[in-house]
Amino acid sequence: MQFQQNVPLAPLTTFQIGGPARWFAEAASEEDIAHAVEFAERRGLRLLVLGGGSNLLVSDAGFPGLILRIALKGIVRRDGPAGAAEFSVAAGEAWDGFVAHAVAEGCAGVECLSGIPGSAGATPVQNVGAYGQEVSQTILRVRVYDRTQSRFLELPAAECGFAYRRSIFNSTLRERYIVSRVDFALRPDGAPMLAYAELRRHFAAGEGRPGLREVREAVRSIRAGKGMLIVEGDPDSRSAGSFFKNPVVPEEKLDRIAQAWDVSRDSIPHYPAGPGRVKLPAAWLVEQAGFHKGYALGAAGISSRHALALVNRGGATASEVAALRDCIVEAVERRFGVVLEPEPVWVA
Ligand code: EPU
Repeated sequence: MQFQQNVPLAPLTTFQIGGPARWFAEAASEEDIAHAVEFAERRGLRLLVLGGGSNLLVSDAGFPGLILRIALKGIVRRDGPAGAAEFSVAAGEAWDGFVAHAVAEGCAGVECLSGIPGSAGATPVQNVGAYGQEVSQTILRVRVYDRTQSRFLELPAAECGFAYRRSIFNSTLRERYIVSRVDFALRPDGAPMLAYAELRRHFAAGEGRPGLREVREAVRSIRAGKGMLIVEGDPDSRSAGSFFKNPVVPEEKLDRIAQAWDVSRDSIPHYPAGPGRVKLPAAWLVEQAGFHKGYALGAAGISSRHALALVNRGGATASEVAALRDCIVEAVERRFGVVLEPEPVWVA
């Protein structure tokens, strides 16, 4: 295992932004993970894990510690209880590669998560979700290196604290665990999930029920239409996907916004989010606050196809993106009294 110095991080991120890592190493095995932790601890370095680099914004100064890129590979299938198909997926596998594999094997449960960039090991961290599915619905357990006990252990899903874009891995126990493998329970020959209105509309005109492959292709094409597929040379995909979480607010907040604007509450897009609470689409708030698709501030900007994706228009610095982020957060708060929370991890 090699420990390199001053390695540029920008090329390793989908944003293509950021300074160097003081130290950089790649883990191809669990032994490598333990070894890297020991290396960092001996030198008093912070250690940060890099998966696919699709959900982070690296500061212009870079990272003063050790960046550990997880490169463990392998997918193993076995029969689980109650007819389930269990897949053990090494953390360094590309997420969309695993989805393609599951769909090809006729196994349902992750097909709506097609086309999401990044690594499989990163998916439990922010409980990746799209089009009605979240990885927490199919994760059985997560195998991790526990930096406190200096050993590997397996956390059942119930201990992962999953919620909307949240888990113990990005909140209460942040930086304690390094994910090495994720186990999923999928349904062999299962029917695809068609929960999301936009996805159902896609198939409304067709005949018969679409299969897993059709749903995968539909999700990929919907994402492509929003610039949310990583396509080489497409400036809209030099981003970290959704830059803000969709805020969940008490229903009264929605009523107050409707009152203040003198419109009906149904003219404001919102979705149920548990008792007495609604989720507001951050993309809508951003646009209403004056930041339209294609908006530019220096070399940072907003995707021309989705208002929630901040993009690097070419040669942007992290401070330019941060300046745009701050303008948006301030304007949305002023207009709606809602504070948007960034979704990508800020690396500094
Ligand atoms: N909207 C706008 N302007 C836009 C786009 C959307 O006003 O430019 C409004 C519309 O009212 C639309 C609503 O926002 O109905 C929702 O938009 P969309 O269906 O595109 O989903 P989203 O809420 O913006 C979330 C996830 C995505 C995920 C999609 C599909 C978050 C933060 N984002 O986006 O996840 O792919 O739903 O399920 O929850 C990501 O996390 O990086 C990500 C891409």
